[in-house]
Amino acid sequence: MKGLILSGGKGSRLRPLTHTSAKQLIPVANKPILFYAIESLKEAGITDIGIIVGETKTEVMKEVGDGSNWGVNITYIEQEAPLGLAHAVKIAENYICNEPFVMFLGDNLIREGIKNFVSKFQCNKPNSLILLSEVDQPQHFGVAVLKNGKISQLVEKPEVPPSNLALVGVYIFDKNIFKAVNRIKPSWRNELEITDAIQWLVENGYNVEPHLVSGWWKDTGKPEDIIEANRLILENINTKISGYVCDNSSVQGRAIIEKGARIINSIIRGPVVIGKDSVITNSYIGPFSSISNQVNIINSEIECSIVLEKSIIKDIPSRIDQSLVGRKVTITSSSSKPQTLQLIIGDNSKATVS
Ligand code: DAU
Repeated sequence: MKGLILSGGKGSRLRPLTHTSAKQLIPVANKPILFYAIESLKEAGITDIGIIVGETKTEVMKEVGDGSNWGVNITYIEQEAPLGLAHAVKIAENYICNEPFVMFLGDNLIREGIKNFVSKFQCNKPNSLILLSEVDQPQHFGVAVLKNGKISQLVEKPEVPPSNLALVGVYIFDKNIFKAVNRIKPSWRNELEITDAIQWLVENGYNVEPHLVSGWWKDTGKPEDIIEANRLILENINTKISGYVCDNSSVQGRAIIEKGARIINSIIRGPVVIGKDSVITNSYIGPFSSISNQVNIINSEIECSIVLEKSIIKDIPSRIDQSLVGRKVTITSSSSKPQTLQLIIGDNSKATVS
C-alpha cells in the first residue's frame, strides 16, 4: 500500500501567515502539520509516500527532503494548479501504479493515527474506505450519508447537510478510483472534487465503506483551528528539558525546553514547548503555548498561543492570549506619551486591543 499526501493548493485563508510559506508547514507544538501526516503513514506501515506539491513546492521539498528522517521514501508529484483533490489523484496515477493507497490531506491532524483504519481496509477489502467524524457544522465539509453500514451519498459543503458526518480528509482507495476521477466533471468552483469521485464509485456499484474517527480530528484551515490543534497536541507531551532554566525561574507542569533555550527569571506553566535558542526573560509562558526557535520574549505574558521563529515580544502590558504570531514579528510597547498604538500589520491580520 502507498501513501499520497496532498500539500499543494493555496493557503488563502491563512494569509498573511502563509504568504511566504505553505499552510501545511505551519508548526503545531513546534512541528510542521505535514510531518504528523508522514508519521501517521509510517506508523501504519506505509513507507512509499507521494507528496502532491504546488506553488510552495520549494519550501515543502526543503523541509521534508527524501523522507530518510522518517525512514520513508518520498516522491514529489507536481500539480500545475490547485484543480481539486480528485485532480491530485489523477496526476498521481503513474506513481500509485494500481496499488491501494491512503490519501491524506496535508493540513489534517488525527490524534489516533490511521493504523486501525488501514487494518480495517486490509481485512474487509472494500473498494474504498472513508474516514468520517461527527461534527457540529457539517456545512463546512464534505458530508456522507450511510445506509446499511455503507456510504450511500456524499455532498461537498452542502448548504443543508443531509447528516452530521464529515469527511475527515483521509481516504483509502483501490485502483477503481482512477476510473472515477477520469469520469467526473469539475464542480461549480472549477475543481475536480474527490466527493464527486467517491459518489461515482457508489453509483457504479463499488463497495464504499465508512470508518468513524474515535479521537479528535482537526482540519487546520483557519487560524483558530491551528490554535486549537496546538492545544490538543500539547495535551499529550512529556517533559524534556534540554535548555537552561535559571534558579529564579520555575517550570510547572509538562514542558519541552529545547537545546539552547534559556529561561531567565520567568514562569513556564505547561503544557508548553519552547524551541531551540529561544530566550524567555522576566516573563510568563502559560499553558498551551508553543514558542518556536530563536524567539525572544521579554517582560511579557503569553498563554494558549503560537509564536513562530525569530519573533520578538517585549514589554507588553497585557497578557497575549489565543494568538498566532508569525515569523520575524516584533511586538513592543512604548512608555512615552502620548500613549498610542503603533502597528505595522499585513493584509488580513486580526488584532484585538482592550
Ligand atoms: O478537511 C476535510 C475536508 O477537506 C473534507 O471534508 C472535504 O470534503 C474536502 O474537500 C476537503 O475540503 P477543504 O476545503 O478543506 O480542502 P482544501 O482546499 O483545504 O484542500 C485540502 C488539502 O489538499 C490542502 O492541504 C491543500 C491540498 N490540495 C488542495 C487542492 C484543492 C492540493 O494539494 N491540491 C488541490 O488541488
